[in-house]
Amino acid sequence: MTADQKNIIKSTVPVLKENGVLLTDHFYKRMFVHNPELKNIFNMSNQQNSRQQTALAMAILAYAENIENPAVLMPAVNGIGQKHVSLDIRPEHYIIVGKHLIVSIGEVLGEAATPEILDAWEVAYNQLAQIMSGHEHKLYSEKVNTKGGWIGWKPFVVKEKIVESSEITSFHLYPADQGPLADFIPGQYLSVRLFIPELNLLQPRQYSISNAPNGSYYRISVKKETAANLNPDGLISNRLHDFVHVGDILEVTAPAGSFMLANNNDHPVVFISGGVGQTPLISMLEELIKSGSKKPVTWIHGCRDKNVHAFKETIEYWSGQKQAVKKHIFYDQVDQESAGETLYQGWVDLNVLGDELLKLDTEYYICGPGPFITKHYKELVAKGIRAEAIHFEEFGPQTLHLN
Ligand SMILES: Cc1cc2nc3c(=O)[nH]c(=O)nc-3n(C[C@H](O)[C@H](O)[C@H](O)COP(=O)(O)OP(=O)(O)OC[C@H]3O[C@@H](n4cnc5c(N)ncnc54)[C@H](O)[C@@H]3O)c2cc1C
Ligand code: HEM
Repeated sequence: MTADQKNIIKSTVPVLKENGVLLTDHFYKRMFVHNPELKNIFNMSNQQNSRQQTALAMAILAYAENIENPAVLMPAVNGIGQKHVSLDIRPEHYIIVGKHLIVSIGEVLGEAATPEILDAWEVAYNQLAQIMSGHEHKLYSEKVNTKGGWIGWKPFVVKEKIVESSEITSFHLYPADQGPLADFIPGQYLSVRLFIPELNLLQPRQYSISNAPNGSYYRISVKKETAANLNPDGLISNRLHDFVHVGDILEVTAPAGSFMLANNNDHPVVFISGGVGQTPLISMLEELIKSGSKKPVTWIHGCRDKNVHAFKETIEYWSGQKQAVKKHIFYDQVDQESAGETLYQGWVDLNVLGDELLKLDTEYYICGPGPFITKHYKELVAKGIRAEAIHFEEFGPQTLHLN
């Protein structure tokens, strides 16, 4: 890239800030008209709520802002790359995306998009595409070089389906070819895809693996997303609950994701989850227990009431006399039957737990809805916790930029 082109890219940052989502919205609409086959790899529900458009716009903006030194973007490139490899994105896809992105810049900016601007963006996009697909190539290579590892979609048999609460059900997935199971790092997720006849489309979704590696099967635990207000029933979670049975085959990609324990120390660990957000944290907790870790562990979980409280007995067992897991459970509604237990009424509130949780060397892992993560992250930072000690996972396109 020439110095002039870098200056042009930097000069378009304000326009991107103003029009980023408009541009990416236009881009997706255009791409799906011209390349409708790509609807099979995108989560089409995410297209309805602007989250994917926002994630892409923020990534492009961050790139434009750091055009002089794209190396600073590597953590973000890794996060996006993990999602891309989990969806089997290949270098040839980058050519299609690049074409629609550049044409969209022209169509959205109109006359303001001079040939120089479009040329500069084409060079810049190709540079970013090279960085990203190069990194993704490394991630794919790691997968094929792992025992039992694979790339693309592989059939797994559902050998057990277990009801964990009124709205969360677990599926135990075994490789259909009876070959070895690739290990994973607790906190990672899989993508699962189903064919949706009404849409004539395949639709993928990510699910965190909710058990520790055991060499036999992956467990995913899925919340049934039921219709609320004007929103329809969740497409895949309802099908998994209602139509996928023991003995059925699911297509799955290899474990991916960068949400994981900082394992290079004996620092205390605090897990903070809301609802089904506990799944990656349960995997981490099981791993700590199985490995005989000496880290002091605190489990903080909130959900609506006891009917939706999944893995209650597992956590009770682990927090029993012999294990060093302290638990604090919050219910929005505490009924009379549950009132005798050690429960807090209301939303998860770290303040009621006192300063004992707030040690400088503690590592915090948060998973739940976006506002849940934001609230606890901000409270912890306000209490003097280092941002690097707070780790979180969003169950959707990465749109929170907290640290
Ligand atoms: C890394 C990661 C890990 C995850 N781990 C888990 C996990 O362990 N367990 C789990 O249960 N989930 C997990 N998820 C979430 C999961 O991937 C799905 O998003 C979830 O199951 C909902 O998918 P769905 O197809 O049922 O719903 P979707 O059809 O995708 O709908 C999602 C929501 O959008 C609403 N919606 C859909 N269409 C529209 C529309 N046209 N207008 C307005 N609103 C609409 C729906 O009502 C619903 O509430 C994870 C996600 C990620 C990214
Ligand atoms: C420079 C180019 C690209 C950038 C900057 C980019 C950026 C992003 C970002 C920020 C996310 C959200 C990540 C997350 O939620 O964790 C994402 C997800 C995704 N990207 Fe890309 N991407 C690029 C290229 C591509 C290409 C070439 C494809 C393939 C057609 C693709 C397909 C997807 C899909 C399918 C998702 C998941 C979205 C969903 O299911 O909602 N991306 N990308």
